Amino acid sequence: MPTSEKLAIDGGHPVIDSALPSGVSGPSIVGEEEIDAVSKVLRSQQLFRYREDGEAENFEREAAEFLGVNYTLMVNSGTSALICALTGVGTGPGDEVIIPGYTYIATAAAVIATGAVPVIAEIDDSLGLDPADVERKITPHTKAVVPVHMRGVPARIDDLVAVARRHGLKIVEDCCQCVGGEYKGRRVGTFGDAGAWSLNYYKTISSGEGGLLYTNDRDIYERASLAADPGLPMWTKSDEAEWRNAPFPRQTYRPSEVLAAMARVQLGKIEEILAHQRALKRAFLDALEEGKGYKLQHVDDPAGDTGVSAAVIVHDPDVARGYALALKAEGADVASIYNDGFPDRHIYSYWDGILAKRSPHPSGYPWNDPSYKGNVEYSKEMCPQTLSILGRSVRFDFNMNMTEEHARLMAQALNKVDAALGG
Ligand SMILES: Cc1ncc(COP(=O)(O)O)c(C=O)c1O
Repeated sequence: MPTSEKLAIDGGHPVIDSALPSGVSGPSIVGEEEIDAVSKVLRSQQLFRYREDGEAENFEREAAEFLGVNYTLMVNSGTSALICALTGVGTGPGDEVIIPGYTYIATAAAVIATGAVPVIAEIDDSLGLDPADVERKITPHTKAVVPVHMRGVPARIDDLVAVARRHGLKIVEDCCQCVGGEYKGRRVGTFGDAGAWSLNYYKTISSGEGGLLYTNDRDIYERASLAADPGLPMWTKSDEAEWRNAPFPRQTYRPSEVLAAMARVQLGKIEEILAHQRALKRAFLDALEEGKGYKLQHVDDPAGDTGVSAAVIVHDPDVARGYALALKAEGADVASIYNDGFPDRHIYSYWDGILAKRSPHPSGYPWNDPSYKGNVEYSKEMCPQTLSILGRSVRFDFNMNMTEEHARLMAQALNKVDAALGG
C-alpha cells in the first residue's frame, strides 16, 4: 500500500487534518431575526398564546401552509405533540401501539402517557420500522402504529401505511427527527392520521424546545387540542368554539409566544436549511467510490431525505467498530450506532424503565391496567435484527456549519478506510 494510503490509525496521514465544524441544524443559523422576533414579544409583555394575531396562531397557520395540511397545533415539545396526536387518534388504556426499536425513548413514553402499551418492533436496512415485523407484532389489542423517520431519513411509509390500513390501525408519524422531510413529493407526517414535529435544539428548525402536531382530520385535531390544554374551551370565545367533540380535561402542553416567535422565524429558514443539508449529503454520496465492504442504508425516497445523516452497513459488528475507529483517526467524527455498553437512548435495549415495565404508580399501569388483556414481554434481545443492523452501522452526521468540501472529505475518509478494511 502506498504511504499516502496508510491509514491514520496505523500512523498514516489523516484525510482530514483540521477538525470538522461542529453544529446542528436550525440553531446553528440563529441570527438577528430570531433575536428581534423574541425581543418584540418580550417588549409587548404579551406572552400568552391566546391573543389577537398571536405568534403561535401565526406559526400554526404558516406551518399548515408549509405542510399542506388542514390543522396544526403548536405545543411545548415533540413528546407532547406525540401524546396529543395519539390521544387524538384514540389510543388509551387497553391498547397496544407498535413503535420501532430504534427511536428516541420519548416515542415509547408518549404511548405510555396515553395509558397504552408500547410494542417494540424491528427496524430494517432503512433504519426505520420493518413493515413485515409490524405485521407480525399485530394482536387483537393493537390500536396504532408509530413509524419514526429517523435521522432525517423517511421510513418505508407506503408499505407501513398499507399494513396498518389492512388491519384497521391508526398511524401517527413521528417526524421529530425529519422535520421538513418528504416522501414521494409529500411532507412526512401526512401519510398517516397525524404527524408530530419536535422543535428542540437538535431538530431541523428549533425554538429551543417546542413541538407541532398536524392532521387533516378535524376530530383528531379537536381531541389533540383538548389533550393539550384542559382550559381550552374557556380560552376560546364560545361562539368560536363549535366543538364536535365534548371537551375532556387533560394536561397543559401550551407553548409560550416566545417559543412561537422563534419557531416562526426558523420556519421561514427551513427551505434554506434543507437545501444546505441536502447539498452536503449529495456531495458526500457523489464523492463515494463503490463500497467494497459496506452497503449504504436503504433510503426509500432520497429526494425527501433532510440530509442530516448517512449510514453505511457492514457485515459484522467488529468490522463496524474497526471502520469507526479508523474513520475517527482520519478526522471524520463517526460512530458505530450500537456498541455494547454505550447507552444510547435511541435504542430500545437501553430503555431500562420500559423493559422493566417500571410505572410511576403502584398499580403498574399501563401494563397492569385491568383493561389491558395483552401480554407484551420485553427483553434486551427481543429485536435481534435491529441490534444486528445497528451493530453493523456506521453513521456520518452533517450540520449547517459544514461546507460541501467537508462532506467530500468525509467521503474520502470512508473511501480510504473501505479500501483498506473492506476486503
Ligand atoms: C424520534 C423522536 N421522537 C420524539 C422526540 C421527542 O421530542 P422532544 O424532545 O421535543 O420532546 C425526539 C426528540 O429528540 C425524537 O428524536
